[in-house]
Amino acid sequence: MFARIGGTGHYLPEQCLTNAMLEQRVDTSHDWIVERTGIHQRHIAGDGENAVTMGVAAARQALAAAQLAVDDLDLIVVATTSGDRAFPSVACEIQAALTEQNIPAFDVAAACSGFIFALSVADQYIRSGTYRNVLVIGTDVLSRLCHPEDRNTIVLFGDGAGAVVVQASEQPGIISTHLHSAGEFADLLGANHPKRHGDAQLDALSEAWMYMKGNEVFKVAVSKLSELVAETLTANGLSAEDLDWLVPHQANLRIIKATAKKLKMPMNQVITTLADTGNTSAASVPIALDVAVRDGRIQRGQNLLLEAFGGGFAWGSALVTY
Ligand code: ACO
Repeated sequence: MFARIGGTGHYLPEQCLTNAMLEQRVDTSHDWIVERTGIHQRHIAGDGENAVTMGVAAARQALAAAQLAVDDLDLIVVATTSGDRAFPSVACEIQAALTEQNIPAFDVAAACSGFIFALSVADQYIRSGTYRNVLVIGTDVLSRLCHPEDRNTIVLFGDGAGAVVVQASEQPGIISTHLHSAGEFADLLGANHPKRHGDAQLDALSEAWMYMKGNEVFKVAVSKLSELVAETLTANGLSAEDLDWLVPHQANLRIIKATAKKLKMPMNQVITTLADTGNTSAASVPIALDVAVRDGRIQRGQNLLLEAFGGGFAWGSALVTY
């Protein structure tokens, strides 16, 4: 038994934050942001929008694409680190919004790599024969974790959600997943839970916001992702020529180019959305996947390498025949 992606969907908030708008807010420039990151704008969740509402919107699209009724779902796995509450989980709130069936729903917290980790969970449940139809969502509102005047983070992060329906299949779909973590790097990138400090102190405490030593994160990301893509191909006895598309986490165009270079893949085989979206954390890979499925670049039967790196550090890849 294999697990195959039956349908994809995504949601991006309407409101956009452009580089020109950021120039008004902090000491930065459009040229610096484009040259160092490749990002032109990000979508920002508006009033009434959060990880749950965005996740639900992406999920409905994915279910429609898979032509699956919501009541046929067996499990919902949500990759997120930016729910409004510590609990209930974002997954439970999404379950309540989608269905009256008491199917299990839980969150996976692996920051920007969360979607890959969640996809691997779905893959295991389906391969073991436990479940047949699993909804996997990546949804994050990391713009709300960034201090409004911290140019290190606000230029990078946007909000959004992406979703896939993963289904039992006789045909290969998810070929393999490869996951890694290195908790010793926690000081380079993270966000403390605001409630740890109490509401009254929230605004005063810089440590209540996301912190990132970007340059150091960058170096580890490039090195680990290079090892990861090589590991993924070797484990399957494949070479880069066997891949049709690289669908990378959309953190920084220079990181993406370095990974493509390692694979010797031309950039016209790499899906990028970050000029429009910025880094949407756990939503980034499923948004890129859905965009390329909907515009016809990614076709059934093609081989995709999905990869992500982020806070933890946690990083992972999935080799997928779409
Ligand atoms: N605007 C203008 N100038 C800036 C900005 C800014 N927003 N930020 C930094 N600078 C300045 C610095 O002060 C420095 O100036 P100096 O040379 O006078 O000292 C110069 O630009 C270069 O700074 P670096 O930090 O070395 O810039 P770098 O090329 O590394 O780019 C960036 C910074 C874009 C953050 C990059 O390091 C990056 O993308 N890192 C990885 C981020 C990432 O992948 N995060 C993981 C996922 S996130 C998650 O999991 C939640």
